[in-house]
Amino acid sequence: MIQLKNVNKSFSTVKALDDVSLEINGGEFFGLLGPNGAGKSTTMSILIGYLAADSGNIFINGEEVKTDELNFRKEIGFVPQSIALYDELSAEENLKIFGSLYGLPKPELEEAMNSYLNAVGLYDRRKEEVRNYSGGMKRRLNLITALLHKPKVLLCDEPTVGVDPQSRNAIFDFLEKLNADGLTIVYTTHYMEEAERLCNRVAIIDSGKIIALATPDELLQMLPTSEHIYITKNDATVSNVNVFKSYGEIIDNNDRYELRLNKESKLSSFFGALENANVNVQNVTIQKPTLEELFLNLTGKRLRD
Ligand SMILES: Nc1ncnc2c1ncn2[C@@H]1O[C@H](COP(=O)(O)OP(=O)(O)OP(=O)(O)O)[C@@H](O)[C@H]1O
Ligand SMILES: [Mg+2]
Repeated sequence: MIQLKNVNKSFSTVKALDDVSLEINGGEFFGLLGPNGAGKSTTMSILIGYLAADSGNIFINGEEVKTDELNFRKEIGFVPQSIALYDELSAEENLKIFGSLYGLPKPELEEAMNSYLNAVGLYDRRKEEVRNYSGGMKRRLNLITALLHKPKVLLCDEPTVGVDPQSRNAIFDFLEKLNADGLTIVYTTHYMEEAERLCNRVAIIDSGKIIALATPDELLQMLPTSEHIYITKNDATVSNVNVFKSYGEIIDNNDRYELRLNKESKLSSFFGALENANVNVQNVTIQKPTLEELFLNLTGKRLRD
């Protein structure tokens, strides 16, 4: 459905995209995960035809994306990273403007507008000026402006930045429902929890390069170790440290051990060993590996500073 082939883009000396190739299938919830300056927004701008690539090809539904016509393409909805709303107008007036850009007939626009305002919990506030909206409300409105014309693909560029956890969850639920109903979603973020929760596949991008691309589970499999197990130090655990060692790498922190479980070791057999050694499981906490850890492992850097 979406294809980028060997796409390059530089801004003077900065290589924003470095030979990026991607294929996104219809129905996917596809994540583009990377830190500030990785090239996420540049990818989006090229996909909507707002920026021209220096080289490479971009196809949407088999049709090559060109930059020479302004792209109010019927099949794409675009949610920009910076909120693009008229502050002095109401939500309803904003939506009418966006609807008219797509040439939607009035009844169709009214129907879409009311249903999306309801879906994101803004229907009761629809007549209020957007300047009075909270950050989260603006984000939700920004999101639905891209949906009025019922696109097949939604490109969301960091749609939850500056949003409180409640609005964030509302946005997630809304997007998941749209995706379940068949909308293809491309979602950029630098929050690995978002990519893990939402996306069926994730491309990790850094300095303009795709450095990994797979399902979240497959990405985590790329890590050399699996779960991190924290074990409080006490008589039973200290005397059994050699037993723990056979399950992975032990890091001795002041008041506890951290065990990085070998990928071959089963959590269940580790728990069996704990029981044999009479170690109370209340002294043990387990943390699943994260995409953050994978990013650190691949690049030596953190996703967020
Ligand atoms: N219009 C521009 N002029 C000059 N440099 C640019 C321009 N747009 C992007 N860049 C540079 O290209 C690189 C990629 O930027 P881009 O905005 O695509 O990153 P991003 O992954 O979206 O980052 P963020 O998470 O901060 O939004 C950065 O180094 C950025 O400074
Ligand atoms: Mg960006």
